[in-house]
Amino acid sequence: MKICIIGAGYVGLVSGACFADLGNDVICIDNDPKKIKSLKLGSIPIYEPGLAELVKRNKKEGRLSFSTNIKEGVRKCEVVFIAVGTPSRDNGEADLSFVENVAKEIAVSMPSYRLIVEKSTVPVNTGEWVEHTIKVFNKRNIKFDVASNPEFLREGSAIKDFMNPDRVVLGVKSKRAKDILAELYKPLKAPIVVTDIKSAEIIKHASNSFLATKISFINAISDICDKVGADIVEVARGIGLDRRIGKEFLNAGIGFGGSCFPKDLSAFIRIAEKIGYDFGMLKEVQRVNEYQKALLVKKIESLLWNLPKKTIGVLGLSFKPDTDDIRQAPVLDIIEQLHREGAHIKTYDPQAMEKARMVLPKEVKFCKDAYEVAKNSDCLLLATEWNEFKELDFKRVKSLMKQPILVDGRNIYDPAEMKRIGFTYVGIGRK
Ligand code: UGA
Repeated sequence: MKICIIGAGYVGLVSGACFADLGNDVICIDNDPKKIKSLKLGSIPIYEPGLAELVKRNKKEGRLSFSTNIKEGVRKCEVVFIAVGTPSRDNGEADLSFVENVAKEIAVSMPSYRLIVEKSTVPVNTGEWVEHTIKVFNKRNIKFDVASNPEFLREGSAIKDFMNPDRVVLGVKSKRAKDILAELYKPLKAPIVVTDIKSAEIIKHASNSFLATKISFINAISDICDKVGADIVEVARGIGLDRRIGKEFLNAGIGFGGSCFPKDLSAFIRIAEKIGYDFGMLKEVQRVNEYQKALLVKKIESLLWNLPKKTIGVLGLSFKPDTDDIRQAPVLDIIEQLHREGAHIKTYDPQAMEKARMVLPKEVKFCKDAYEVAKNSDCLLLATEWNEFKELDFKRVKSLMKQPILVDGRNIYDPAEMKRIGFTYVGIGRK
């Protein structure tokens, strides 16, 4: 199939490269000429394992190309995916102006039948608005369909997630749209949920909200574990083996971040508010997430007595491992708070330092590895569970530190082992 993807961000670029790898002809469009120029030269704007090779291979084999010209893409391709950004407004609502602009451009560029598919995470009813907008600007009355096909890939494992989805959701209004999309996704051999457009839109927001709820739930339980001396890892295992609950997404930590959960929760709360439902439950999920960061600062303070002039080493800056994405990374708030209290911060991240440098206070010291971070630190905080932090030589780490205090913000270390090496070890809800 000939596919045009508008928006070469995380979702657009990964989907484009994967569709191309499945044998389709794909054009990725973005209105940022710098991004398109560098993609054409083979440079990938994000760090995502396997993506650079995938893009390179498919470009070379002629299945993947890049352009800034929506008209060109829409003229050549029967299926047009909208994967532009839907950032948060100040009131938490999703800003849909990019989606609207793209819909208008598609409307005036369609030479014949086109299937327009929402891939971006959008509030329920966006499909209706896209359809309405295209109708208004489609002066030549060309036939078209709108569909919703939310994406569930995660950063850090995006290609694997795209190619092996738990399910593919198709929100459609016509058999023609359903048949095209079912054919496109056939090679993935995944269960396909065919539904109406509004239900598909809600599936995406509800999935992300549910996952965020799971994380805040386990974080709340971890606080209880801390207070009574129980162990959250054992508790999560005991809960998660119940198949109705499932063991995924029950890792307590410093809170969730990223470009999706925080934004989608706010948007879903606003959608509910607008139709007269107070989604108090999701507001509590947000509150627990904020509390979790404040708790980390309190934990560190209780270990160091006074924060001013103490040196705190922070391992990890991205919101999760295997990405250089720092958007809404909980550790950034924690660093800001510690800095405000007068602590010195040293840090290292395998991929995210360039981006973090632009937003963190200028006094923060960026190091070349974890050992340089440990040197002369009064406390070490593990904030992102990169594999290389799991394999550290902790005897060496301890010998470099001023005080051997380890705060494990992701519960990746064995408390008994760390205590044996001589650390004062504090995890999240761990004994
Ligand atoms: C999330 C969803 O998992 C994807 O299905 C979805 O497609 C994507 O949002 C999106 O809407 O685009 P992502 O934000 O890439 O994916 O990352 P996750 O792996 O879901 O992690 C989100 C945050 O939750 C991270 O900060 C992570 O550290 C945290 N988390 C995750 C926990 O604190 N505990 C857990 O058990 C799991």
